Amino acid sequence: MPAEAMAKDPGATTTTGFAHGKVILLGEHAVVHGEPALAAGIKAGITATATSGDGRLDVPAWQLHARAGDGSPAGTALHRLLDRLRAPALDFAIDAQIPSRAGLGSSAALAVALARAVAARTGAATADVAAAVTASESVFHSSPSGIDAAAAASGAVGRFQKDDGWRPVVVRQPFDLCVGLSGRSRDTAAQVEAVAVLLRRTPVARRLIESLGALTDAGIKALAAGDVDGLGRLFDLAHGLLAGLRVSSPEIERLVHGARAAGAVGAKLTGAGGGGAVIALGPGHESDILARWRADGFDGFVTVVGGD
Ligand code: MEV
Repeated sequence: MPAEAMAKDPGATTTTGFAHGKVILLGEHAVVHGEPALAAGIKAGITATATSGDGRLDVPAWQLHARAGDGSPAGTALHRLLDRLRAPALDFAIDAQIPSRAGLGSSAALAVALARAVAARTGAATADVAAAVTASESVFHSSPSGIDAAAAASGAVGRFQKDDGWRPVVVRQPFDLCVGLSGRSRDTAAQVEAVAVLLRRTPVARRLIESLGALTDAGIKALAAGDVDGLGRLFDLAHGLLAGLRVSSPEIERLVHGARAAGAVGAKLTGAGGGGAVIALGPGHESDILARWRADGFDGFVTVVGGD
């Protein structure tokens, strides 16, 4: 990064920052248009280790190597983040336990982990960390709702709405959630823009957005009651609406229908869609769902939602 954007390096200590991957349980896309959404941090995430250096970013798991301000998207995002934090000259080594561009919030988790690694060194305030993450995210997505960054920072289950922020949600009974990976990378900015175009051209589609918001609030009630079957039915309804907004894909449909055939009580795309990931609820059928996905050529894993 340009030398003038950096403060003096206060020392040679190594600092780290961690952030979680996330799944959106309900309300993706609707949240961009002011509706509430429900998200859960997952255990797997990203650890950033900062040492004195000159703005290098290495993410071996994603074969990503960039330098702040090098003109690449990752380099530009890093430059904005460091600039906003008035960071000293640092290099970052990244241990990524989640795939990139797979619908699991990788870019927000990377930004939060980087900002935390810097803040651990400089003592930057939480508000400045959040502003730096927003500045970094704006490279990949011109109108992020903020839910990905909020979930990455929290790691827990929460309701997010643009004008209300992140609020923790009570989960009466932790449950297993199957996550299926379509193998096709998603482009959040393009998907969000496609929905915005649809809403401009077909204003009645706004009703689908409002219904997705209503499903979020129904999902919060299901979580409070420990009603996993009820949550699964909400997943199916949400997936139908998201497919109506045309953010599904052939791979996502195969994952959703494969999960249902293997015993899922509900399945839906998660995140921006068009690729990325699917989530499925099938109490007692998790291994059947993963086996079905593998037989169809897709990877997947099980994560616990709720609990510590
Ligand atoms: C992406 O994980 C979620 C979207 O709703 C975009 C956003 O909220 O910024 C599609």
